[in-house]
Amino acid sequence: MNAKIKQNYDFQYDNPIDRLMNSSPEKSDILHLLKATGDLQQELFKQAREIRAKHTNNKVALRGVIEISNFCQKSCNYCAIRAPNKEMQRYRMDPDEIVDIAGQIRGLGIRIVFLQAGQDPKCDAILEEAIPRIKEKYQGKILLCLGERPKEVYQRYRELGADSYILKHETSDPALYQKIAHTSLEKRLQCAEWIQETGMQLGLGNMIGIPDQTFESLAEDILLAYRMQPDFVSSSPFIANQGTPYEDVPTGDFNMTLNTMAINRILFKSSLVPTVSALEKIQKGGQLMGLNAGANVITINFTPPVQREKYKIYSDKRFIVSLDHTQNIVEKAGLKLDTDKALKAL
Ligand code: 5AD
Repeated sequence: MNAKIKQNYDFQYDNPIDRLMNSSPEKSDILHLLKATGDLQQELFKQAREIRAKHTNNKVALRGVIEISNFCQKSCNYCAIRAPNKEMQRYRMDPDEIVDIAGQIRGLGIRIVFLQAGQDPKCDAILEEAIPRIKEKYQGKILLCLGERPKEVYQRYRELGADSYILKHETSDPALYQKIAHTSLEKRLQCAEWIQETGMQLGLGNMIGIPDQTFESLAEDILLAYRMQPDFVSSSPFIANQGTPYEDVPTGDFNMTLNTMAINRILFKSSLVPTVSALEKIQKGGQLMGLNAGANVITINFTPPVQREKYKIYSDKRFIVSLDHTQNIVEKAGLKLDTDKALKAL
């Protein structure tokens, strides 16, 4: 864009929220909005809610998550299920148990069955059986979050019936990613592209509060997602996990997480933006604030307590999202649940 046109352009939209809504995103505007407080933050949230009302059915989607295995090949500094954590008791569920819980999820009217695990290739044999059985018996959507795998494996998940896959980028800074995950960001983004190529919907996302993360890189996290145009995009505050190299790192910034979510809503319009349990963990009422910042999906935990205790990705005492809590905050946000039928337990 030449300087004159750019000048007119900036004149036309004289605040960062308008520019974000009406033109391709500029890093300087994102940086400004990431730090928003007071009136500017309220305006950001208001615009995010308006975009949600305009571009979605204004209903909150639900995902019922089953954490099917806590084995993991990776050694991410922030995560307690990292391979070197010998204290962690490992488990892997069998297909019968998974299909059974999926039936409960679908029986409640929840449309999305979310299967999550560490990066554990031994889950593949289990999924070969479980995904088709779930699809056949209970229909609905299958969402996976199983880490970095070869292209053929993603292709296979798709053939089995998976609809979508979350592989968060965590950060857009290659050196920082290498430092926290001990593998390359390039490889991870290659995997994300493969996922898109299979036809599955893709979820990206970042973490806020990683040691040595810069504001610039947080703005770049959003721009990276913008370039890849994912179907879902999340943001979570970092939470220290015991038994990890980052066990003493302070919690990520709550407001910056909300601001990222609102920016994501404005940029990605109809995408699913979750209000994550970590928000509730660090501030009571946090997940409701996430809905008020433009979020439109909540993950409810269906991992049986025995295994759940061992799935420590958000520290020892993570906030376990229940149906009651979900209904409560959705109502308070003035929204409706997007379910197949009236939720039985509500
Ligand atoms: N703090 C915040 N988010 C975390 N995740 C894992 N560990 C942590 C942590 N300590 C998130 C990552 C990962 C997802 C499964 O959970 O974003 O992709």
